[in-house]
Amino acid sequence: MTVITNIEDLKRIYRRRAPKMFYDYCESGSWSEQTFRENVTDFEKIRLRQRVAVDMTGRSTATQMVGQDVAMPVALAPVGLLGMQHADGEILAARAAEAFGVPFTLSTMSICSIEDVAERTQKPFWFQLYTMTDEDYVRRLLQRAKDAKCSALVITLDLQIIGQRHKDLKNGLSAPPKPTLKNWLDLSLRWRWGLNMLQTPRRHFGNIVGHAQGVDDPSSLFEWTAKQFDPALDWKKVAKLIEMWDGPTILKGILDEEDARMAAEVGADAIVVSNHGGRQLDGALSAIRMLPRIVDAVGDRIEIHMDGGIRSGQDVLKAVALGAKGTYVGRAFVYGLGAMGQQGVESALEVIRKELDTSMALCGRRRIEDLGRDVLLVPEDFEGRWQDV
Ligand SMILES: Cc1cc2nc3c(=O)[nH]c(=O)nc-3n(C[C@H](O)[C@H](O)[C@H](O)COP(=O)(O)O)c2cc1C
Repeated sequence: MTVITNIEDLKRIYRRRAPKMFYDYCESGSWSEQTFRENVTDFEKIRLRQRVAVDMTGRSTATQMVGQDVAMPVALAPVGLLGMQHADGEILAARAAEAFGVPFTLSTMSICSIEDVAERTQKPFWFQLYTMTDEDYVRRLLQRAKDAKCSALVITLDLQIIGQRHKDLKNGLSAPPKPTLKNWLDLSLRWRWGLNMLQTPRRHFGNIVGHAQGVDDPSSLFEWTAKQFDPALDWKKVAKLIEMWDGPTILKGILDEEDARMAAEVGADAIVVSNHGGRQLDGALSAIRMLPRIVDAVGDRIEIHMDGGIRSGQDVLKAVALGAKGTYVGRAFVYGLGAMGQQGVESALEVIRKELDTSMALCGRRRIEDLGRDVLLVPEDFEGRWQDV
C-alpha cells in the first residue's frame, strides 16, 4: 500500500486508474496552458519567514468562510463530471468534505444531482451555478438548491463561453464515454473504474437530464450546454440572481480590480479570485499574483477567497497570508477522488491540513487569524510592473 505524503502521490495513482479522457479533462488548461502552469509556479516564488522560540501550543486551523465554521480555510471547488472521475464522485467528495469539516461545492455540471447528494449527506453543501439562457430552468435549479438546504450559492462568472482545451476535443470528451475502439482499449486498462461504474445508475448530468427542456439525448449534452450558457450575462443579471437566491452568495472568477469593485457593489458576500484553474482565458495572470491587488482594492468591503494552483498546505498559508479569508482546491481533491474515492479526497485534505498546521507553527503563528503578509517573503516584482490601462 502506497504511503500518501503529498498530493503528487495521489495524482500518480489517479493517472493509472482513471480513463485517459477524464484525466486529461482535469489536467489541462486552455490553449498554451500558460495560466494553468503559472497558477502553480507563481506560488513557488513566494517564500516563508522562519520564526523560532514562539509558543506553538494550542494551534488551530479552524476559521470561517461566509460566516460558516470550517476546519481549515479550504473548500472543495466546484468541479464538473466528478461522477466520471469515480463512480458517484460527487457523493463521495461531499462525504469526505463533511467528515473533514470543510464545504463541498456541487457544480451545475455534476453527474450526481443536487437531490442525490443531499439525500446521501448530513450537512448542507454549497451549490455552484452556471447561468443559462433558459431563465425558467435557472429559477427551478435555484429552487432545487434551496429545497436541498444548500447553505451558499457560488455564481461562476468566467465561463459565459468555454475556453478551448485541445485534449478534450482530441479525446472526444463525453459523459459517459462513447463506445469507440479507442475508448474500449483505454477502459480495458481501468477495470477498477469500470467495475465501480457498472454498479451505479449515475452516468449522466444529473442536474440537467430530466430537468431542462429539449434534452432527450444525454450524449448531446455538451452541445446543449455550449448553446445554453448565457453569453449575455451582465451585472444586472448577477444582481437579480443574488436577489433571487436570498442567502450567502459568492461570485467566482474575479481577476480584475474593477470587477471586484462591481462585485462588492452588487451585494455579493464574497468573491473568488480565480481564472478557472487556467481553463478559460489563457494568458491571464495567475490567481495568486492578482490576489494582493484585489485585496488592496476591495478587501475592506467584501470577503475574498481565491483558487488556482493550490497543491499543498503551504499554498493555502500563502494565499491566506496575502489576504484570502478562504481558498478552494480543485485538481488536488480530484486526484484523490480518482485515486481512491472518498478515502482519497480525505487523504488530500489531510495532507493539506497537516502541512498548513506545521508550516504555521514554523512561521511562529498559532491561528489562521494571525497569518498576515509579514509571514511571507514576496519578491519585489511579484505582482509585475504592467503598464496602466
Ligand atoms: C476538471 C475541472 C472541472 C471544473 N468544473 C468547474 C465547474 O463545473 N464549475 C466551476 O465553477 N468551476 C469549475 N472548475 C474550476 C474549479 O472550480 C477551480 O476554479 C479550479 O479547479 C481551481 O484551480 P486548481 O484546480 O488548480 O485548484 C473546474 C476545474 C477542473 C479542473
